[in-house]
Amino acid sequence: MPVFRQQITVRGLVIDPPLLLAPMAGLTHSALRQIIAGFGGIGLLSTEMLSAKRLPAENPTVSPWLVRSPSERPLSYQLLLSRADEIAPAIDALHACGADAVDFNMGCPAAAVGKFGAGIRLMEEPAEVRRIVADARKRTTLPLSAKIRIGASLDDRKLRDFCVMLQEEGIDLLSVHARLKHESFARTPRWEYISRIKEWISIPVVVNGGIFSVADAKQCLEVSGADGLMIGRGAVIKPWLFAEISRNLFGREIAVPSVVLPLLYASFLGHLASLFRPQYRLGRLKEFTHYFARNYRFGHHLASRVQSSGSVEEARERAEAFFLSAT
Ligand SMILES: Cc1cc2nc3c(=O)[nH]c(=O)nc-3n(C[C@H](O)[C@H](O)[C@H](O)COP(=O)(O)O)c2cc1C
Repeated sequence: MPVFRQQITVRGLVIDPPLLLAPMAGLTHSALRQIIAGFGGIGLLSTEMLSAKRLPAENPTVSPWLVRSPSERPLSYQLLLSRADEIAPAIDALHACGADAVDFNMGCPAAAVGKFGAGIRLMEEPAEVRRIVADARKRTTLPLSAKIRIGASLDDRKLRDFCVMLQEEGIDLLSVHARLKHESFARTPRWEYISRIKEWISIPVVVNGGIFSVADAKQCLEVSGADGLMIGRGAVIKPWLFAEISRNLFGREIAVPSVVLPLLYASFLGHLASLFRPQYRLGRLKEFTHYFARNYRFGHHLASRVQSSGSVEEARERAEAFFLSAT
């Protein structure tokens, strides 16, 4: 078995094994996190991106972005923000939520996010980012992380200066989606770039992008030399992927996941019903199904039938009919 770094410790938070869930809007809410946590093998869970401006007004016990169960630990909260003056109220709100870590979104390339100066646009504003991180560092003793892409273009000097600045101001862990700003998810990620970043900074660097199997995870760790892995879509398709990687690459004694896909889907539906008010269920079911359907050879039928459903009940019936025909 290859020997990879077994855990990451930042400010007392032990990420063990060093496997992290990527923040994903509409996907990494409490329902999916509970299912992933149930399989085991995850080192750090994540929320979806949370607007720092709106966060202080949310009620953590009912907000669909903030509800959580005790099984979802440790849990990192990702902030979407563009200015340092948003920091103090947002961090105070995260303390009240019981956050285990705080992450800054500095990698989202969506135009709707960039319009407000947030996401990867922050990589063009190092002076403001310096203030953001410095203010956050003063406000909390929680671990701070940043999630970046490798830039708008290949520019080592700019990327190095940005990473060094993050470390200087108090970022404890960096996760890197190994693609450029405009590179689509279909492009092969540049995992090898991580080893370069690791030469520039001494904080742990976690690699993200394009990991869908144990074999991908192994290859990614070998090529990148990263301290850990962050997985997004692969963990929606296979919420048991962290358990498999933990067993196979990190030697953890975790039961071989016994997966019955229709039961897993039913469990997701159950969590949606118990966690979210009715108006927040169908959209989340459609997002999840889009990825989960890839477990089936003709999964696009499942995805499109759920996608065109007008209610959760209709989606459930269509999914059940699909599962019967698929066995
Ligand atoms: C539907 C969707 C929503 C996403 N939302 C976020 C987000 O809220 N914050 C963020 O930093 N990245 C977000 N991402 C990017 C992922 O965190 C991750 O970087 C990307 O999916 C590549 O990793 P993967 O190949 O393991 O999926 C999102 C990606 C997807 C597909």
